[in-house]
Amino acid sequence: MVAAHIPDDVPSGGGERPIEPGERRGAAAWVIEAMPAGMIDSPLDFIFAEHHRQREAAAILVMMADGEFDEAGARALVEFLTGDFALHIGDEELALFPMLREYCLPEDKVDRILERLEDEHREDEHGLDDVLGVIRDRIEGRPFGGNAKRTLRRFAEHISQHLALENGVLLPIARVRLGPREQAILAQTFRERRL
Ligand SMILES: [Fe+2]
Ligand SMILES: [Fe+2]
Repeated sequence: MVAAHIPDDVPSGGGERPIEPGERRGAAAWVIEAMPAGMIDSPLDFIFAEHHRQREAAAILVMMADGEFDEAGARALVEFLTGDFALHIGDEELALFPMLREYCLPEDKVDRILERLEDEHREDEHGLDDVLGVIRDRIEGRPFGGNAKRTLRRFAEHISQHLALENGVLLPIARVRLGPREQAILAQTFRERRL
């Protein structure tokens, strides 16, 4: 069992950088960390922590594109991409984004940011089937072609640049505009989506 590294005191935004090759070694490099218990009560920290897990997923996609393979890690990646990753897009589009549209001020200019993020979510959803197909092929022992590697790498890059915008721009605005009452509503919505 690998210790979780998701910090309890999540920074207030930014700090986005890819996980470098070799930064996590051995079996740990294939782990997408579990979410700390109770983090959902701080919904913006919860989103930030999910982003950290997505960075881990992106790093695993790059490792696979580089030719590395760990079956348990690949299976966990499929589970993450079809589970928490998909759930997270819904958390943002069904709960966080509408709340930001309601509470942000015109000078925040969130409308264009949110439109772009929603477009990127659609691209993720369209690309996901291909990515899952590539990973499942590899799990079943079929060799990778060049296209498969490109598919994984492109998806990983897409995740990383999306996270940069959400962590670097959107979450800092959310921390200013959403007070304790709004965050409590957000947390409740996230909990209900997981019942
Ligand atoms: Fe996100
Ligand atoms: Fe997003």
